[in-house]
Amino acid sequence: MINSIRGFNDILPPETSIWQQVEKEARGIFAAYGFSEIRVPIVEKTGLFSRSIGETTDIVEKEMYTFADRHGESITLRPEGTAPVVRAYIEHKIYGNDPVAKFYYLGPMFRYERPQKGRFRQFHQIGAEVFGIDDPAVDAETLEMLVSLFQRLGLEGVSLQINSLGCKECRPLYKEKLLNFLQDKKSQLCQDCQRRYEINPLRTLDCKSPGCVEITSHAPSILDAVCGGCKNHFEKVKEYLALSHVNFSLNPKMVRGLDYYIRTTFEITALGLGSQNAVAAGGRYDGLVKDLGGPDVPGFGFAIGMERLAMLLQDNGQWRVDSGQSPVFIVILGDKAEASAFGLIKNLRQNGVRLERDYGNKSIKAQMKRADKLGAKFVLILGDNELASNSVAIKNMESGEQEKVSLDRVGEKLKTLIGVSL
Ligand code: HAM
Repeated sequence: MINSIRGFNDILPPETSIWQQVEKEARGIFAAYGFSEIRVPIVEKTGLFSRSIGETTDIVEKEMYTFADRHGESITLRPEGTAPVVRAYIEHKIYGNDPVAKFYYLGPMFRYERPQKGRFRQFHQIGAEVFGIDDPAVDAETLEMLVSLFQRLGLEGVSLQINSLGCKECRPLYKEKLLNFLQDKKSQLCQDCQRRYEINPLRTLDCKSPGCVEITSHAPSILDAVCGGCKNHFEKVKEYLALSHVNFSLNPKMVRGLDYYIRTTFEITALGLGSQNAVAAGGRYDGLVKDLGGPDVPGFGFAIGMERLAMLLQDNGQWRVDSGQSPVFIVILGDKAEASAFGLIKNLRQNGVRLERDYGNKSIKAQMKRADKLGAKFVLILGDNELASNSVAIKNMESGEQEKVSLDRVGEKLKTLIGVSL
């Protein structure tokens, strides 16, 4: 027996129906906001991710699935979707006439993390990216879209935290301030943060170890340190979010684990996930398109963790997993009936009736038992008697009532009984 790889999950029915409902709702709302679907490869050249996410991030340092292909080229299973979408935007010169473009994507991502609740090695994201507009209204509007999606899905206890990470001009100044603050406390930081102090000191701000939390709780706030332009941008984002009635709180210690962000960043948590786990996250990444070889086009986007979202919805009693329309079952008795059942079954299925049957000439008792097991509300019975009168019997499994219907009227009759559109 060969099992699946650790951290790689099967998503089985009926849970897949939650995924389908989420995807359908997402596609609907994204279309209303002007987003089109983009599908990019699952594997890219390694350099795309190390250059965009950042060489010293956990993702690039420790979590990428990187292989040499048969020609020795280093390729990586995508750990996230933004870099591939940016690559496609540049490669196809989508900025050509109009730099404004809005894309969404759904699909698997891969990170070699320690598997635990809500954390997997293959996981799925629904993401969206807006190119070409640096107006803070885009930040607010995209967040409004995301929060509305969660509202529509009935997700409970949604909490949006926002921050500004400044820009390439003002962030280094803040970094200096933070380093000054941490200088004489360095030895009290955890091992990881002592290393972060050297390579990426902002990451000490969201370390979860109690000692570091205590130390950084007194650190200068980045929101007090950003430049006039960044401050203005952030003020506008807050103003627009208020105008759209999107609730949020400020979290100046939220730094994100990817280096491409500037200005607005955010994370969304929901009741039942634990405060360390976000169900969605993202932010602004002006400069990334240029860094990856394209024109200087700004960007903003987010990604939702599908496994986390599905888990939350499933735990939340309102979401009954939908196993679809309850089936109609056909009991077939004898070889002659079997032969004429083929046409009838095809016809009903092609008209949208979910029709199940048994195989191998089983007894009526065995076939009825199977119908019961599948939850059929109506059972068609086709045997020699029915064939002789060109009809089938339809049995209502709840009331036990049974009536004969001529073969050419079965579809119509089922339509009234189960409400399918024939
Ligand atoms: P991220 O914060 O790395 O951002 O991931 C976004 C979401 O993906 C997380 O909030 C979480 O729900 C889910 N996620 C991440 N890692 C795992 C995992 N190992 N297992 C299960 N779920 C996970 C990004 O990926 C950015 N590309 C988002 C973005 C788009 N920023 C701008 N545009």
